[in-house]
Amino acid sequence: MKTAMFFALLPTLLCASSAFAVVPLSSVKRESNLPTVSNKFIVEVDTLADIPTKRSLETSHEFLYRSLRERAVVFEVDKEFNSAGLFVGAALTLNSANDAAALQNTPGVKAIRPVRKFDRPKPVLTHVVSGVNDPALPPDSESTHIMTGVDKLHAQGIKGKGIKIGILDTGIDYTHPSLGGAFGPGHKVIGGFDLVGDNYTGSNTPVPDADPLDQCAGHGTHVAGIIGADPGNDFGISGVSYEASINAYRIFGCTGFVTDDVIVEALLLGNKDGNDIMTLSLGGADGWTESSSSVVASRLAAAGKILTIAAGNDGASGSWYTSSPGNGIDVISVASVDNTVIPLQNATVHGVQHDPITYFATFPFPVTTELPVFATSNDTTVADDACNVLPPSIPDLSNKLVLIRRGGCTFVQKLTNAAAKGAKVALIYDNGSGFAGISVGDFLATLIQAADGEFLVQQFAAGVPVSLSFPQTGGSTNFPDPEGGLVSSFTSYGPSNDFFFKPAVAAPGGNILSTLPVPLGSFGVLSGTSMATPFVAGSSALLLSVKGKSVAVARGARTLFETTAQRIPSSHTDGDPLQTVTQQGAGLINVFDAIHTTTIVSPGELILNDTAHARPLQTFTVKNTGSTAKKYTLTHVPAGTALTVDAGTIFPALGPVPLVATAASVSIVPKTFTVRPGQSQAVVAVFSPPKGLDKTTFPTYSGFIQIESGADKTHVTYLGLAASLKDKQVVDNTDEFFGEVIPAILDPAGDVQAGPANYTFVGEDVPTLLFRLAFGTPTLRVDLVDASIKFTPTLNSRDLESRGFPFFSFPHPNKGGSFAQVKIVGSLTELDFISRNNEDPDDNGFTTIAFSEPTFANGTTIANGSYRVLLRALRVTGNPTREEDYESWLSPIVGVTV
Ligand SMILES: *[C@@H]1O[C@H](CO)[C@@H](O)[C@H](O)[C@H]1NC(C)=O
Ligand SMILES: *[C@@H]1O[C@H](CO)[C@@H](O)[C@H](O)[C@H]1NC(C)=O
Ligand SMILES: *[C@@H]1O[C@H](CO)[C@@H](O)[C@H](O)[C@H]1NC(C)=O
Ligand SMILES: *[C@@H]1O[C@H](CO)[C@@H](O)[C@H](O)[C@H]1NC(C)=O
Ligand SMILES: *[C@@H]1O[C@H](CO)[C@@H](O)[C@H](O)[C@H]1NC(C)=O
Ligand SMILES: *[C@@H]1O[C@H](CO)[C@@H](O)[C@H](O)[C@H]1NC(C)=O
Ligand SMILES: *[C@@H]1O[C@H](CO)[C@@H](O)[C@H](O)[C@H]1NC(C)=O
Ligand SMILES: *[C@@H]1O[C@H](CO)[C@@H](O)[C@H](O)[C@H]1NC(C)=O
Repeated sequence: MKTAMFFALLPTLLCASSAFAVVPLSSVKRESNLPTVSNKFIVEVDTLADIPTKRSLETSHEFLYRSLRERAVVFEVDKEFNSAGLFVGAALTLNSANDAAALQNTPGVKAIRPVRKFDRPKPVLTHVVSGVNDPALPPDSESTHIMTGVDKLHAQGIKGKGIKIGILDTGIDYTHPSLGGAFGPGHKVIGGFDLVGDNYTGSNTPVPDADPLDQCAGHGTHVAGIIGADPGNDFGISGVSYEASINAYRIFGCTGFVTDDVIVEALLLGNKDGNDIMTLSLGGADGWTESSSSVVASRLAAAGKILTIAAGNDGASGSWYTSSPGNGIDVISVASVDNTVIPLQNATVHGVQHDPITYFATFPFPVTTELPVFATSNDTTVADDACNVLPPSIPDLSNKLVLIRRGGCTFVQKLTNAAAKGAKVALIYDNGSGFAGISVGDFLATLIQAADGEFLVQQFAAGVPVSLSFPQTGGSTNFPDPEGGLVSSFTSYGPSNDFFFKPAVAAPGGNILSTLPVPLGSFGVLSGTSMATPFVAGSSALLLSVKGKSVAVARGARTLFETTAQRIPSSHTDGDPLQTVTQQGAGLINVFDAIHTTTIVSPGELILNDTAHARPLQTFTVKNTGSTAKKYTLTHVPAGTALTVDAGTIFPALGPVPLVATAASVSIVPKTFTVRPGQSQAVVAVFSPPKGLDKTTFPTYSGFIQIESGADKTHVTYLGLAASLKDKQVVDNTDEFFGEVIPAILDPAGDVQAGPANYTFVGEDVPTLLFRLAFGTPTLRVDLVDASIKFTPTLNSRDLESRGFPFFSFPHPNKGGSFAQVKIVGSLTELDFISRNNEDPDDNGFTTIAFSEPTFANGTTIANGSYRVLLRALRVTGNPTREEDYESWLSPIVGVTV
């Protein structure tokens, strides 16, 4: 739920994806860590026509406010939304839980959604190019255009002229010469707005102004360059649609996060300003299609705007972890593909005849002297080289290039030991076949390949006076990226919990050189789905500039990109399956084919859903828009089946999600046919899920039906689950994360409450509910029940417990059915459409709710007494009125003595 707001990251972090280590309970803060802002809500109101008690000439907003005042509700209007047909409502801050209850019962209120906050990402390491003659210029600047056919469109003069793109981000440094140099009509950045101001952090009041200039954050300027950088710069790069016009909507300050209400406001403003396309390289793990910004973005897309939104960078967390607002049903959620080459640097070898040695750095090490090599061990098989303090026999290393073998401890530990001997520059050679960026803290060090390191150490050990130099010019090399052309491992996996097809398509997002604000260095390299997203926005501009700006073209854009995309393998090893559609979407876009194809296939996505809601029979049409008859042949091309849950556990498999080749079978009718110009053919496909797989792994199968006519190749993409979502356990009831069985109530000492306990709700003396979700839930409900309740929870129980708190939600009234038969004293909170937690204790590893006030969700004080807390989570696709569709947990006795 709490992930990075921006989806840009250093391409080169090594991530260890092992099972989680036990997290000490003492590290859990006894405060709520929900991803929503307390006491603040986005309220959507009915259109006036639907409100019988309205007064004449009264607006929907006036009616809402009057109704609230009549109920003596104290509220503050943070924002008003007034886009008839799209979204009418307001962001409100309320004073008390009582007022929240009154708001819920106010006529004309259509929906109340929490205000989500989106954290800022961990610092992004940026490679900044220093100036005009910077030798460090990566030699590969247009490979991403070549990968996607954009180069061929540019050659045809198609550059996005006449199209307006709104970028919702940190603003843009439009003073950048490659971004037009100025702001306003007639320039590249024609307009926009700063909705927040420099000082906005996400938790203070935005101070808007008319100028969306960003010279402090940089992310939006990088995004803008991918769309719009003019050619003719010293770096040889250009944007995908550099003749399009840009509006900049600044929704981040220089630091901090942003809330959903600001995103919604920016979306509606961008719509009003007449943008044809809006692009959002931001989001947070969510798993459902229901957040305010997802809903509004999707409505805009359905109304004929193209919305491109990042799929997220949570690939390491595994499946079922999609990002919002990219989850919006009709938006284009964008995955990242690694560039085919990595721009790296070569060092020159002296003292012995040898080819240059490639070191993993985008720009040259700032070392201008030739340095003699010194190896911390002459043995190239030592498992823990330099993991311990270096022996006294090792000389001063300040004028050496230190060589250390990887393994046994962290890179920083090795480098710290070397630095204790004065070392200033080090190369770590791999202990296997690895070659990637590594985390070295503040040290000047990076990785080289094993063979290069072994060669140098052997020379050193043999007494050869070998040394290295780091050319400050001319050392750039196009290292063929072993992962090039594959889906970037950081791309978040779908599908959404409601089984929508996320991500939709992929675009280049790894190792992307683009513009940065002039004060931050003008150019730099970033990676992330943040970089892939504007690529699709720019591609959409090319499409609209050729096909015209109609609602029909905009609404068909996703299908065109999907059906003309290129399928992506899961590795470069022969025989490995195609990457799961849950990470690659329909494949890497080919913009040339999307624009020039004469085979129009629709729909682009066949969603087969789970076994309990299976839709095995699917139809699609193939239309020939060419000028001659075409004979088509249809074939089934399966992708790898993703084993999304670790067998025999309740936990999602971490990324890279394991794939197996066991595939669905499909019967296609007809399999070959001829279509005359202008005619269409309907095709029926009947799917059977893969057989023989362990259902506890929740095998998610996917693939393509290829439609081929000579060189003309298109496809439809399918996605299904060979298990029932209702069988997936939601609440983690193990001790694997904390070494203590959860859910649990934490007492004021931060310990798990094991027996009955009383809480005074004075100061620290409050209970805190701690839980983890192994899977998303449509409804999580926390109620207070009588201590002596006769109720058998489905999950492990201890003995008893209590509550009180700031309000987060509006519990729905009695849902009826057997659910309503459970006698509760009152509701403490209800959270709807909740994401699962992930494996990272510092990110979204667990959820805490501190009950800091002794009140029910509606604000009424809880009477002195003895209670238990009942936690219930509805399984995905469960019926909210059926108690048996919930998992439940009952706390020890919680005494309220206030
Ligand atoms: C932003 O904050 C700084 C430091 O508190 C202050 O000096 C400055 O005036 C603020 N700027 C605006 C536009 O409010
Ligand atoms: C960099 O070094 C590699 C490995 O020796 C070599 O293949 C490549 O040609 C070099 N690149 C340049 C630009 O010198
Ligand atoms: C290389 O070092 C890493 C980190 O210590 C270790 O996990 C890995 O097993 C080592 N690989 C080999 C082949 O020794
Ligand atoms: C490693 O080899 C060098 C060069 O022959 C030598 O000076 C040094 O003593 C050797 N180190 C060890 C620990 O044997
Ligand atoms: C899959 O089935 C569930 C249960 O009927 C439904 O709620 C969901 O919307 C379906 N997903 C799609 C994408 O149709
Ligand atoms: C909680 O308070 C009640 C009423 O004061 C008392 O009877 C009970 O013993 C207390 N329980 C604990 C565990 O202290
Ligand atoms: C608030 O909820 C409690 C517990 O369900 C109930 O007893 C009380 O009547 C409610 N108060 C209001 C004002 O609705
Ligand atoms: C609740 O219990 C506490 C502790 O026993 C007592 O001080 C307080 O007066 C009680 N409150 C009410 C409203 O009875």
